[in-house]
Amino acid sequence: MNDMTIGAGIEEAGAKESFTLAAGLSTEPVPVDSYISPDFFELERKRVFGRAWLFVGRVDQLPEENSYFVKEIDICKASVLVTRNEAGKVQAFHNVCSHRGNLVVNDDCGTKKRFRCEYHNWTYQNDGALIGVPDQKNFFNLDKKKCGLTPIATGVWEGWIFVNMQREPEISLEEFLGPYGKAYAGVPFGEDHETLVIEARFNANWKLIMDAFAESYHVPAIHPGTLAPGFANPVHNKYARPLSGNTFGLHAAWSAYGNPEYAPPPDSEVERIACKIDTGGLLGSDVNDEVLRLRAHPAINPTKESCWSADVTSIFPNFNIDYSTGGYWTHEFWPLSRDATHWILTIRIPKASSVRHRLQLEHYAARWAEIVLEDVTNCERIQKGLESGAKDVMILQDGEFMIRHMQETLRKWVNAETVADAMK
Ligand code: FES
Ligand SMILES: [Fe+2]
Repeated sequence: MNDMTIGAGIEEAGAKESFTLAAGLSTEPVPVDSYISPDFFELERKRVFGRAWLFVGRVDQLPEENSYFVKEIDICKASVLVTRNEAGKVQAFHNVCSHRGNLVVNDDCGTKKRFRCEYHNWTYQNDGALIGVPDQKNFFNLDKKKCGLTPIATGVWEGWIFVNMQREPEISLEEFLGPYGKAYAGVPFGEDHETLVIEARFNANWKLIMDAFAESYHVPAIHPGTLAPGFANPVHNKYARPLSGNTFGLHAAWSAYGNPEYAPPPDSEVERIACKIDTGGLLGSDVNDEVLRLRAHPAINPTKESCWSADVTSIFPNFNIDYSTGGYWTHEFWPLSRDATHWILTIRIPKASSVRHRLQLEHYAARWAEIVLEDVTNCERIQKGLESGAKDVMILQDGEFMIRHMQETLRKWVNAETVADAMK
């Protein structure tokens, strides 16, 4: 696969190049076994989630020294304790006591320098060191130095914390992110964001919800009253084609069109007050210098189309970071089983600069919640359709190139004995 960007995705831009061909992807129908096969799921567990770098949180979830949070990674059967010690170092550990294997920390997050296991009071420092064992003399040659919490390989890129569940990762986080890490370095995330988290557990394969955010072809059909008017235009882009598409090794991105002619309907009074299109699309912010900074970054809206609304970027295997002029949001697509998923959407909006801005941001978040619920409810229907065995393949069009890229990448990882082979 090549790493390249092509633009001019919308119909009127003349002879359109193919995102699919430019990325070196096949144009054939794509097998659907990865959504329904129990064997494939077991391989995903071991060879994808067991070997890839996985997103666990953002550094602002560790706002001060001795902050911590716990992340459950069900697919790896792991409870992960992520800490920031007094020196500021971020490190992850298995949340498992060295004595008899109890979970050590049972709350979600907080600030603590020490963690005490509730079973027999063994106590650990937030750098993993075992520092307290009641009645130590009654053990047999207990060497506390060898009995700390088991560390997990941890890396931080641009404030995003990743872990790797291999005892000794075959590749570094930097190698794993590859050209994506370089392209998106320095994207201004802004500070002081407020977060809104929407989560759902539902009965569909994890990739079905991921696919729903990998393309905009479905927007006119699934989101006619929410997203379509802002992401399509009856004359200029009636099928909501992407503006550009890009692959970066394991990872990929596309830019969404924003309808410059969008106006809220006359009976949408709140939206009429909130909406301000001058910074580009339905999701616009009115803090123009922030918007300009974002738009100036070479990776954002890489073909620099004026009718841009958002960028969707996908980090293999299960994490999206998406940008718009109103703020940014992330998706985590966590498999629970072959046909069950825990999906977490975190919307991050800047602190409001005025009352009108506040209204705009609240509207932005509420609108997103409405849109994504339309997507989630659709996934169980697709799972049912695929489970029937009626179809062996799916037929993807050019705007769905990210699904194809994901399927090809996934299959490489599932089939490869080593990560080096998977990366070829
Ligand atoms: S299992 Fe943790 S102190 Fe015994
Ligand atoms: Fe959607």
